[in-house]
Parts: sequence; structure tokens; C-alpha cells
Amino acid sequence: MSAENIEKFLSEIAKSLHEETFVKMTLGNYRGNDPYLQKILTRLIKTKKGVRLFFLYKYETRDTAKNYSKNKGIKIIRDFLGKDFFAGHLFTTKNNFQLDIGKKRRSRLNIGKPTFKAKPDLNHDRNKSRLIDPNSFYLKALGITTDSGEIRAKQQDKWKQINKFVETLNNLVKDSTLKEKKNLKIIDMGSGKGYLTFATYDFFKNIIGIDVELTGVDTKQQLIDLCNDIAKSSEFNNLKFVHGFIDDYKLQDIDVLIALHACNTATDDAIYKGIKAKAKLIVVAPCCHQEIRPQIKAPEMMKNILKHGIMLEREAESITDGLRSLLLEEQGYSTKIFEFISTEHTPKNNMIIGTLKEKEFDSQKISEQIQTIKDFYGIENQHLHKLLKSD
Ligand SMILES: C[S@@+](CC[C@H](N)C(=O)[O-])C[C@H]1O[C@@H](n2cnc3c(N)ncnc32)[C@H](O)[C@@H]1O
Repeated sequence: MSAENIEKFLSEIAKSLHEETFVKMTLGNYRGNDPYLQKILTRLIKTKKGVRLFFLYKYETRDTAKNYSKNKGIKIIRDFLGKDFFAGHLFTTKNNFQLDIGKKRRSRLNIGKPTFKAKPDLNHDRNKSRLIDPNSFYLKALGITTDSGEIRAKQQDKWKQINKFVETLNNLVKDSTLKEKKNLKIIDMGSGKGYLTFATYDFFKNIIGIDVELTGVDTKQQLIDLCNDIAKSSEFNNLKFVHGFIDDYKLQDIDVLIALHACNTATDDAIYKGIKAKAKLIVVAPCCHQEIRPQIKAPEMMKNILKHGIMLEREAESITDGLRSLLLEEQGYSTKIFEFISTEHTPKNNMIIGTLKEKEFDSQKISEQIQTIKDFYGIENQHLHKLLKSD
């Protein structure tokens, strides 16, 4: 048996799509020319163009995504089989099909009992009491939920974080001057794989029902491409991801700036951009505080406490975030710092919030407080302070 098994495998894909028993299909055992491509995962997605086949191309260090009509999808699979990919695994609610292609396109097709008894639900079961629907396509494409909308065991912490973030942001917007706005312009600095960016867009657009323009910025081109593919497939028309550095980004006219876990002083760059653009709300969750620790000269009265590395590290973290908060206050924001989510779920858990005040305030007094703290610890440089002073 050779090409016959490949044809049978392809016809089973077409049949399962026609009979609506298709669950998912993977192509593996890649032997093509791309040194990094490893496998392709396909599943169904419901879009305005109807039900389509979504392809996730898994590379060694990144993923890319595309969706196609069912016929085009089958054609692509046909072109790949026996040329680039030498194994296929089709899951339908009737059977599993395992295709293995050997030398000279000799192949074997094993047919087994189905792993999945039910086909994936492509409809969102959204209700107003739920912030994020685990059946959302972007959560499946980003690997947070399974095809049937279950939260993957390893993604439980991420899931909690996404929900907590959306809840927190919603409360902040409700308590701010933005509460009446019918359209929100949001920027996410250091958007990474976009979990929080997608959820934020989805929540404000589809649950709150306002217009949202959201841009994610990151230095990793591969993540930018993947997120743009998923945003397109999700038909999130005003969500886009752009490649770039936070400090280079030309930011104008923004309501909300978020920067979650942006590394080290990238958080300062983001806060600075938000202040300059007069963002009404600045929401950051800093990570890896590396700038201040080596500068601290322990004051005499603190020497016996800060001689312990862990205490110095915590002190440096507190001073860094405390200074960021004071610098926001100096620029006319009221601030809060709180634990965003318990350390059980993530070690990066401080959240700094700045809400632009409308009242007059005494910035001179705050500037003095900032300088007193820097002098007390012998701190010469704090990135946000330097940026603000250079204006
Ligand atoms: C730890 S990830 C966090 C991703 C996402 N915000 C989250 O919380 O899930 C940090 C991201 O910030 C990006 N990043 C770090 N420094 C940056 C800079 N200066 N400009 C743009 N992106 C930056 C990194 O590429 C990375 O994707």
C-alpha cells in the first residue's frame, strides 16, 4: 500500500469535515527544508466567513498561524504529505487515524477507537457573569484551553492571572474618568504572547460592549506575527501587534497604558511613555528589578538588616516600585500599589496603578520626598527619574 493510504487519510479528513465529526488533525515527522518547522496542528474555527480550518505551524522556538477554507486546507495537507511531513494523525468522533509514510511513499494507516467522543464546541457560551469564555478561539490558539474549552492543567495559573487582570482593569476603568467613554484606546507595552492583551480586548469589546483600539508592542517579531495571525482569525479588527522597543514607540492620545512583566527598566520606559501621552490610567506589574540593588549603600542603621542578600533584594524591589509610584504622583497621578495575584500563582505580583488626577497638586513636595529617599540609600540613578528629569 502506498499512495492509497494517503488518499484514504485525506478522504477521511474531507468526510469528517462534511459529516461534522472532525475534532483535530496533526502533521508530524517533518523532513522538509525548514530547519525549525516541527509540526502542524489543525482545528476548526468559526469566523464571519463560516467554519474554517485553523493551522498552527509549530516551530522550534515560535508558532505561526493561518486559517483557510476547508477545501484549501485539505489541499495544503495533500501537498505536505509524503513531501514534507511523513506522519498524520486525524481525530474524529468516530475513529482515530494514524498515517505513517515510509520510504518511496510506502505508508501504513492504522484506524483505532476515537479518543474524543464529542466534537469541539465552536460557539461561545458567553454570559454576562463570565469575564472570559474558556471556549474563546484565542485561548485555544494560545494553548491556554483545550479544543473542548477545558483549562489545560499547566495553564491554571495563567488562566487565574488573565481573569484577575481583566477584573482589576475593569474596576479601575469604572472608578476613573474613563467610565463613561464609549471607546477606549489602550496600549500594551511588552505584550509577549498576548494572553492579557487578547483577554483585555475581548472583555471590553464583547462583554462591556464598547469600541476598543488596542495595540500590543514587543521586540519579538515572531510573537508579533503569531498574535496578529490569531487576532485576524478571531476577527478582532481593532487589535494589532507591532514590533518595536517601548522607548522608541511614538505614543499619542491614549486612555490606558498597560505594561505587565516588562523586564527591568522597560517598566520605567512604559510609565514614562504613559505620563508623556497623559494616559488616564497607567497599569504596570514590574518584574526583575535589577537597577537599584547594586547601587544601594546600606544606611548605618540598616546595615545589619541589609547584610542579608534576600533582605537587600526585597528592599531594592520596594524602593524601586515605591519610587515609581512617587514619580507618578509627582507627575499628577494618584497611585496604588497592591498584590495583583497571590505569589502562589506568580512571583511577579506587585501592581502599580496611576490614575491621572484632575486637581491641582504640590509636585515640589513630592520631588523632595523622592530625593530624600534616593539620598538615604545612596541611589544615583533611577531610570524613570532620569527620563523625567531629561525633559
Ligand atoms: C515576561 S514577558 C510578559 C508578556 C506579557 N505582558 C505578560 O504579562 O504575559 C515580557 C515581554 O516584554 C518584552 N520586552 C521586554 N523589554 C522590552 C522593550 N524594551 N520593548 C518592547 N518589549 C519588551 C519581551 O520581549 C517579552 O515578550
